[in-house]
Amino acid sequence: MTGTSATPDSGPDEALLQRRDRAFGRGAKLFYDEPLHLVRGEGASLFGADGRRYVDMYNNVASVGHAHPRIVEAMARQQATLNTHSRYLSEPAIALAERLTALQRLTESAVFSCSGTEAIEIALRMARMATGARGIVCTDHTYHGNNLVVGALTNLPAGDTRHPDIRSIPFPETLRPVAPGLDEETLADAYVARLKAAIEDLKASGHGFAALILCPILANEGLPDIPATFMAKAAALVRAEGGLIIADEVQAGYGRTGTWWGYDEVGLTPDIVVTGKPMGAGLPLAATCAKRDVVEEFRAETRYFNTFAASQLQGAVGLAVLDVIEEEGLVEHARVLGAELKAALRQRLSHASGLIDVRGKGLFLTAEFVTPEGEPDAPRAFALVCALRREGFLTSVDGAFNNCVKIRPPLVLPREDALAFLDAFDRVCAHA
Ligand SMILES: Cc1ncc(COP(=O)(O)O)c(C=O)c1O
Repeated sequence: MTGTSATPDSGPDEALLQRRDRAFGRGAKLFYDEPLHLVRGEGASLFGADGRRYVDMYNNVASVGHAHPRIVEAMARQQATLNTHSRYLSEPAIALAERLTALQRLTESAVFSCSGTEAIEIALRMARMATGARGIVCTDHTYHGNNLVVGALTNLPAGDTRHPDIRSIPFPETLRPVAPGLDEETLADAYVARLKAAIEDLKASGHGFAALILCPILANEGLPDIPATFMAKAAALVRAEGGLIIADEVQAGYGRTGTWWGYDEVGLTPDIVVTGKPMGAGLPLAATCAKRDVVEEFRAETRYFNTFAASQLQGAVGLAVLDVIEEEGLVEHARVLGAELKAALRQRLSHASGLIDVRGKGLFLTAEFVTPEGEPDAPRAFALVCALRREGFLTSVDGAFNNCVKIRPPLVLPREDALAFLDAFDRVCAHA
């Protein structure tokens, strides 16, 4: 049965839902108004316990496709051969670090870990050690991870000083600019002025300035159109002030935007690059890459060890993911199909009610909805996402106001599924 089948769902699995509430404790979030019970994945398809096929328009961990045979084989073979910790000489993780840094611009060495959160924390620690300062600047609607240190960066309002050594700045965008009526160049300057003020505040408070951290494409902020010169000007300022630039490529990287790295899209050269989610196709695998002296200072000061990281298994699977991306031409596919999908969605701007913007690059797009009064319409975005799920297409809401439909499929999304999605999008926009 295909995702566009009109067969109604059998409804949420009540017994499983109740067991989940007991087993996990109530409050563990689920997508959609009717929770989805998935039992299998293949390529860009997910299969429900109801027997339906759903087109996955959301998951980026399975960027190379669900249950890719090459990944399954690499995982099984390595686990059946050797999988132990990093304190022995062995080939796969070393080869992965070499290939990963060769794909990036400035970086030379890598520290592996098991989640984006861990890798971001390592990046913050590296920047603090390299600069001898503590102050971090982030954007105000960001998410970089969930532990005590990294979680402090989450949705921190600009000007908030509850974390003495962290400041946030309004994320740069053209749709709801920080100051009205400015041309793009002057608007970029206005955002850079906020960055300068945050750096000065950190310096005045005695914490100094260690780093600016951002997702180059501002994924969790809703993929805003960024004033064109902002990133280059911000980078120049950060370096002049003695800080480092940390690019969080956990969502933006690995070919997602139709180039290998989000920073390539926005004219940014970072000092530290953090990768995660798609790296291990489901095996927990993340990395913090930087110049060798920055990494070596971190290693010398921390003697960092992470039980499951830099293992032979992480290495073998990480290499298989890179092989698949390269051999199947997935970066190019994301660029070409993403451009077609975006152009088609933008054609809907004139007639899909409430749709005011379609943004993004490659296979990472967002469609923003507002009320007739022009206010962010989060309930509508949620209703559309739930209606799309009933049509057999899995998306989610995102953006600073939760009023965007987030479209971020595995990079292997077939063109015919993308075209079928457009038909479903039209149907739900007309009715939801
Ligand atoms: C941009 C970004 N950075 C970091 C993280 C944290 O990654 P993890 O959930 O693997 O800790 C996320 C997770 O959603 C993310 O979106």
